[in-house]
Amino acid sequence: MDKINVLYTEEEIAKRVDELGKELYQKYGDEEVVFVCTLKGAVFFACDLLKRYPGDARIEFLRVSSYEGESSTGKINLKLPLDAEKINGKNVVIVEDIVDTGYTLEYIRKYVNDMHPKSLVECTLLDKKARRVVEIEPTYSGFVIEDLFVVGYGLDYDQKYRNLPFIGVVVKEWKINM
Ligand code: IMP
Repeated sequence: MDKINVLYTEEEIAKRVDELGKELYQKYGDEEVVFVCTLKGAVFFACDLLKRYPGDARIEFLRVSSYEGESSTGKINLKLPLDAEKINGKNVVIVEDIVDTGYTLEYIRKYVNDMHPKSLVECTLLDKKARRVVEIEPTYSGFVIEDLFVVGYGLDYDQKYRNLPFIGVVVKEWKINM
């Protein structure tokens, strides 16, 4: 197993998710909200966020893919579509794990917007602002991070490490062949 340096502990994540839940509740109050969880990376975040959201919440799932290993291909594929009836006329929060180049969020925002929600915001756990290619700013973000490839709490490296309870950085081992 690779060595992984902790970036955010389980406790730090829980505290921030709790704050985000309260912030979102301040916005919507008693109105119904549909949280759109983007699979697979945002699943831990979305579940915890909903548990910390004291209002009327529904959850829907969407799956897109663009990543291979550590890099974005830039081409977004829709793997699991949303049911437009569940979005039309609703207050929608897109729940993302991380915004990197911004291609994925731009695609999802347009895809959801075309279903005519009543309102639409984005809530990402992590934001790698410095890596942005597309001009897009998530409405809510948990932590702004540097240009690091992170894993854990739902985030993977080639499908590994999603089950780590913290967010960490994989330390690659360097081998010198003599
Ligand atoms: P973007 O389209 O470049 O903004 O990439 C967004 C998607 O890439 C996220 O939803 C993640 O699935 C994946 N991704 C970007 N950076 C990382 C990372 O550091 N660790 C794991 N996945 C990442």
